[in-house]
Amino acid sequence: MLKHPGVFNPKEGVFVQTFGEELESLRAAGLFRSMRLVEGEQSSRIILDGREVLLLCSNNYLGLADHPLLKEAAIRAVERFGVGSGAARLVSGNMELHLRLEERIAAFKGTEAALVFNSGYAANTGIISAIAGRGDLIFSDRLNHASIVDGALLSRAKVIRYSHNDMVALRRLLEENRSTSGRRIIVTDGVFSMDGDLAKLAELVALKGEFGALLMVDDAHGTGVLGEHGRGSAELCGVMDRIDIHMGTLGKALGSFGAYAAASEEIIDYLVNRARSFIFSTSLPPAVLAASIAAFDLVDSPAGADLRKGLAANSTQFKDGLENAGFNTMGSETQIVPVFVGGAEETMEFSRKLLDQGIFVQGIRPPTVPVGSCRLRCTLMATHSQADVDRAVAAIAQVGRQLGVIRGT
Ligand SMILES: Cc1ncc(COP(=O)(O)O)c(C=O)c1O
Repeated sequence: MLKHPGVFNPKEGVFVQTFGEELESLRAAGLFRSMRLVEGEQSSRIILDGREVLLLCSNNYLGLADHPLLKEAAIRAVERFGVGSGAARLVSGNMELHLRLEERIAAFKGTEAALVFNSGYAANTGIISAIAGRGDLIFSDRLNHASIVDGALLSRAKVIRYSHNDMVALRRLLEENRSTSGRRIIVTDGVFSMDGDLAKLAELVALKGEFGALLMVDDAHGTGVLGEHGRGSAELCGVMDRIDIHMGTLGKALGSFGAYAAASEEIIDYLVNRARSFIFSTSLPPAVLAASIAAFDLVDSPAGADLRKGLAANSTQFKDGLENAGFNTMGSETQIVPVFVGGAEETMEFSRKLLDQGIFVQGIRPPTVPVGSCRLRCTLMATHSQADVDRAVAAIAQVGRQLGVIRGT
């Protein structure tokens, strides 16, 4: 086996290799992660390690990842525009599809302009490290996604984390820092990715106005799903035109790949000039851009409205079923429904036993969630049938009783 250089141990006077030891300690703590093989498409039932299972842990909420219209759009784009984009856009130029997608996103979000990024992770790290710098303040919800945390760290701004969705705490922190010069940026997930609850956007909008802050909302899990027209959590909360930067992803409900910022022309021009993940990375390729445009067309159509209704109905049926069985769904308000378990090993055991019954759900452990709050993160799809949902609830209840997560025999 290849030997890697190690860390100097002054006691023994030698270099010791630590990767293996660290992996061992992850294993011992039940925190080791590995990936599985899925054959074929990402639909509501998948072939996992050679066996058909019900998929209950995908962010493909509307089932668009294998939708014929998106596939057709991608194939046509490859035929017309080729496979690769060749370079970053500031280097080899925009392709027509970049511009068409950005126009589509700006119209969808009701903003002056939009900019596409290569992933949600790249968008958050790029946007936040561009708009904030030394001397600025970032107010960030404690449960914000890791990409927001990393973007804030990269920015070198002072990061002030407020308790999850605690508007009283946030107001106090804004008050305490009122006299500080520099930009103030409040950043929040629209839908919290591991809890499935919603940010209090109306209150955040009021606070940002009162304290002269900028508000950025990461709507990775709301885009395409929430609000009458699927515009996201800001539409649901009636504050579409009050958010300074809408960030969203194209690889979840929209079934494609990539992410965006939608904002004023001034902010978008600023990001083009300052967001390093945009400037220094090869841009999204034609097939992905075309699939995203087709996804917005679908989300805006009556078929899209039906998918949203179906997803909402499935989410309610699932949550009601679990709560009636005695589970704690941790305040979920959306299609992301956590099932609280507690310990890491117990959670992974729960997930394994469900897989034995043909239900694929991931256990979520630290560092993704705090120690002691491990959970199954269940996600519903519009393409699950009512029978699928009933079957999943019954299996989770049975394993939950067996493991003592809920009472009963
Ligand atoms: C809230 C949130 N923001 C950003 C991301 C990153 O998006 P992407 O998977 O496109 O990198 C995710 C998803 O994993 C997320 O849950």
